[in-house]
Amino acid sequence: MTKILIKGGRAVDPASPLDGKRDILIEEGEIRAIEEEIRCEEPEVRVIEAEGKIVTPGLIDIHTHLREPGREDEETIATGSAAAAKGGFTTILCMPNTEPPIDNHSLVKFIIDKSRTEAVGNVLPVGSISKGLEGESLSEIGQMVKGGAVAISDDGYPVINTELMRRALEYTRIFDIPVISHCEDTNLSKDGVMNEGYVSTILGMRGIPRAAEEVMVAREIILAELTGTKVHIAHVSTKGSLAMIKEAKRRGLKVTCEVTPHHLILTDEVVMGFDTNTRVNPPLRGREDVDALREGLAEGIIDAIATDHAPHALNEKELEYGLAPCGIVGLETALGLLLTEIVNKGVVSFFDLIAKLTIGPARILNLERGRLKVGSPADVIIIDPREEWVVDPSRFVSKSKNTPFNGWQLKGKTVVTIINGRIAVENGELV
Ligand code: DOR
Repeated sequence: MTKILIKGGRAVDPASPLDGKRDILIEEGEIRAIEEEIRCEEPEVRVIEAEGKIVTPGLIDIHTHLREPGREDEETIATGSAAAAKGGFTTILCMPNTEPPIDNHSLVKFIIDKSRTEAVGNVLPVGSISKGLEGESLSEIGQMVKGGAVAISDDGYPVINTELMRRALEYTRIFDIPVISHCEDTNLSKDGVMNEGYVSTILGMRGIPRAAEEVMVAREIILAELTGTKVHIAHVSTKGSLAMIKEAKRRGLKVTCEVTPHHLILTDEVVMGFDTNTRVNPPLRGREDVDALREGLAEGIIDAIATDHAPHALNEKELEYGLAPCGIVGLETALGLLLTEIVNKGVVSFFDLIAKLTIGPARILNLERGRLKVGSPADVIIIDPREEWVVDPSRFVSKSKNTPFNGWQLKGKTVVTIINGRIAVENGELV
């Protein structure tokens, strides 16, 4: 394995914390040295000049949907992890709502084995909470954890049965992994296709009330207290949810949460164009919610930003709004969107944004990644904060193109991605 020396970049590592000019030496898959100046004249060292660029830990996406097994036409472990690398994500968690769902040891092993040979980066499987994602009986949680599952979730299919959720939380406590909860009372969201409010009324579309999410967030907080287990709330979308999470944290409960770039950037007004790429679950909310999410990010209530990368086939999205499946692809646009809309517009600093994409998710999972530390796995990216580019789905590495950000002008891009000491992306393109 070649030695890599990254020279002259601004190194930003919220975990250390570090923000300053540093050279970084990578050898045998590990970070070997981080110093103000490293001289290395050996001919086999690959030198990457990073003057004017920013060097950060590889990003971690705690919430990705790969469609393997079952819907390899939409995404595979290979294409999803390649899209991740292109977007600067060196580690991704893949959700279990595949066909069949990842609800047993052998499917966890399938993901791990396949990732070892085909993935571009680190792919960590999430096992399901319930067998078949049916919400009726617990999956083989212990076996899945033994096999390498790093969390459990029925994402996409909320666990309605509170007693089952309680048992899942009690059982996972012994493994010290988070239960990732997709908070949605499906009796309340039922036939809704977008946020319930002014815009849904104008459009005459059935709405999903904020309460559909909030009653379940309240339940998970109550169960977190009852069981003493870590609960991670996926894709928080409302002001009310955030207020409850803030209070739960104040009380010292083990509750964490994530927000997606699309919920931080778009309001339900974009549904006015009837673009089915804006259909997502939870739905895009109102201005007050978006403002509250941004405040929650700045205040530190939100622990991680996660893409909820949800690939869908073009022909399935090309239906009338209410019939199209929910989901937005996010791995290749997340960083550019967040730099342009959140950092450059002054919502949070670059340093704080990187924290939510690196050490934030790493802490939720107890991962030894997401930091620039001597001896750590060499997952490192180089960002060009000045590069301007336009979102063009036809250039996505992901097999699916379902984004509402087509044509957006962005500033800031991953130009180099190094994963476990190997260069996966150079000059912004996959190697
Ligand atoms: O929009 C969504 N799409 N939300 C989910 O919870 C699931 C996801 C998917 O798998 O397509």
